[in-house]
Amino acid sequence: MKALDALHSRISFPKLNDPIPEQEVLDNIYKSAFRAADHAVLRPWRFLVIKGESRARLGELFVSAASTDRPDITEAEKLKLRDKPLRAPLILVTVVSPREHPKVPACEQELSAAAATQNMLIAAYAQGVGAMWRTGSMAYHPLVMAGLGLDSHEKIIAFVYIGSINAAAKNLLEVDLKTRFKEW
Ligand SMILES: Cc1cc2nc3c(=O)[nH]c(=O)nc-3n(C[C@H](O)[C@H](O)[C@H](O)COP(=O)(O)O)c2cc1C
Repeated sequence: MKALDALHSRISFPKLNDPIPEQEVLDNIYKSAFRAADHAVLRPWRFLVIKGESRARLGELFVSAASTDRPDITEAEKLKLRDKPLRAPLILVTVVSPREHPKVPACEQELSAAAATQNMLIAAYAQGVGAMWRTGSMAYHPLVMAGLGLDSHEKIIAFVYIGSINAAAKNLLEVDLKTRFKEW
């Protein structure tokens, strides 16, 4: 797919199936992260690769985090949390690891990690691979962050769900460029 076609038509795919894309396809996705705009080229990110049984461990981590907040959580709610990581065969967790820099505040390093994540979504789409950026309360829960091995200065930017597409692409929303781009 041409770069502009991918940029103009990328969409999220909420339902993703096996199989996990081949390693060469994944490597293309991973490499794209490193072409994100990145002030001072700090590359202030790292990615956790979660697949197979590890997805169930992530689901249990979600359950134990939610249960700590709400000991009366229902079995149905636990089941829903357990199922979340099973919505795709592969999950990449974008972790921002900001470091002290005289010109690049931590908020800019988070933006770079977000740009890296967006690049990966586009690289997936360009190769016919489905992807979806998800966060939700679990992405910001201290027990989830600790359980995933984050250091105290790190944050989760995204859970990127990746897999094979099994649904028709949705229609793209129209955009009126004139209302969004105005001469100043
Ligand atoms: C920071 C961020 C967090 C997101 N978190 C969620 C989420 O928790 N659940 C979800 O369904 N979509 C999430 N999304 C995806 C958006 O819902 C999706 O991009 C939006 O609906 C537009 O659809 P499209 O990507 O197909 O254009 C998130 C996107 C971003 C950038």
